[in-house]
Amino acid sequence: PQVLFVTSEMYPFSKTGGLADVMGALPLALSRLGVNVGVITPFYGRLASSEFPLRLIYEDCPVGYPWPDTTADIFLADYHGLPVYFISRGEYFDRRFLYCTHKGDYFDNCERFIFFCRATMEWTRRLAHPPAVIHAHDWHAALVPAYLHFLRKVDPFWENTKSVMTVHNLAFQGRFAYRLFQHSGLPHTAWHSGGAEYFGDFNLLKSGISYADMVTTVSPTYAEEILTPEFGCGLEGILQYRASDLRGILNGADYEIWDPRQDRFLPCTYSPELLKGKLRCKESLFHELCLDPKMLTRPLLGFVGRLRRQKGIDMLLDILPELLRRDVSVVVLGEGNLQFEALLQDMMETYPGRFVARIGYTEDLAHRIQAGVDLFLMPSRYEPCGLTQMYSLRYGSLPVASAVGGLLDTIVSYPHPESTGFIFSPAESDAFLKCINQALDLWSKRQQWNAMQVRAMRTDFSWTSAAQKYIRAYSELGADLSKG
Ligand code: ADP
Ligand code: GLC
Repeated sequence: PQVLFVTSEMYPFSKTGGLADVMGALPLALSRLGVNVGVITPFYGRLASSEFPLRLIYEDCPVGYPWPDTTADIFLADYHGLPVYFISRGEYFDRRFLYCTHKGDYFDNCERFIFFCRATMEWTRRLAHPPAVIHAHDWHAALVPAYLHFLRKVDPFWENTKSVMTVHNLAFQGRFAYRLFQHSGLPHTAWHSGGAEYFGDFNLLKSGISYADMVTTVSPTYAEEILTPEFGCGLEGILQYRASDLRGILNGADYEIWDPRQDRFLPCTYSPELLKGKLRCKESLFHELCLDPKMLTRPLLGFVGRLRRQKGIDMLLDILPELLRRDVSVVVLGEGNLQFEALLQDMMETYPGRFVARIGYTEDLAHRIQAGVDLFLMPSRYEPCGLTQMYSLRYGSLPVASAVGGLLDTIVSYPHPESTGFIFSPAESDAFLKCINQALDLWSKRQQWNAMQVRAMRTDFSWTSAAQKYIRAYSELGADLSKG
């Protein structure tokens, strides 16, 4: 491949969040524009691979980490014509969850992803041609640009390969003890505050940001925010240092998977021209979740996301009693923090038939919620891009979102004549409740509401325009996309 994506998750093979959705779509969009793309990712124990069978193509590829004789097996899948390479080593990746259990992160995450990055370099070295660009995503893949930086000096194979590091979420950095740096295979010269070191610790994401030829993040607003202490998660210094090589490229939405016109998870499809089906989806969701059918003629509000402070689920919990006084119903789908899970379960007992929390990860229910609700809630404290609000727009479920990151870049806030949703600021409970109330007032003005729904459904965040921007970025680096 000319461009090789390195990622720890990829839909439909593995997924914990938006990164997977991006990896399932962006490589395809690039390839439709004529770029030869491949993906490299771990072979987890629970790969959803029935649609795209995997085949073992290389046994015992030497990795040399953590022991001199440690190897990886390489599997290959054909994903709509693109090669996806899977790095397999059972003891690291054959686990039920990708990164953590309810008890916390796996103790050997650093070792697992050093192994993954080193195996990536070793396997890529065995390909017939070096890729023009090696494009790493998030901390799990962040050592790849660092390894490349040092290998380029000693191995002519890598001479013309450029690297891009994309940050999908700066809060997850992969920060570990110095001891792990010593065995990572990076030279001692990388141990300084403009390299892999962060206050005496080994910081994987920082290594990638320091050594990549270009750094990108997933929306223009987030690219600016992360240069400030408020959003920089302690890395604002190195990001400011790299500011001239930093780009914010807005994600797209994969409308082959997320579009009510053809969504295979819905009881019926619908479109802006024929919105009737949306009501059927709402009815059927009421039935599925055992919501009180008397409330069917009132607004249904929904939340889908990881139950973490980032997503502001605590704000939703705060305002829930007040909100339910307005004769609405609310549904939450998510998993994450155990405390939030327990609080949500309690609320469900307090408000039977009116509030439902589904704890867990259910891809198909996420689609049915997108379609069945009237308002989609996204009170994030920060949001690098956010895909769920883009999906909700397409489903005519108007978003109520905080004024951060990609939410600002994708939603036009009421009362603008072109409005597609509702934005509030600051990201606090009071402002959130006030904004929902404003949205509910508009909901009763049916004509205005419908016009806004149709506008929302017609907004287009297709991946083509993002892919074009990545191609421009690669060529800014001088990457030669004509071979590979
Ligand atoms: P993030 O990557 O920060 O979690 P995004 O909005 O970019 O947020 O993407 C989240 C993706 O994960 C969406 O596809 C969303 O539908 C999905 N998702 C999140 N939580 C769940 C869940 N509990 N069940 C099913 N899908 C979920
Ligand atoms: C991260 C961010 C989210 C973004 C996703 C895909 O998980 O939290 O905002 O949409 O990555 O880039």
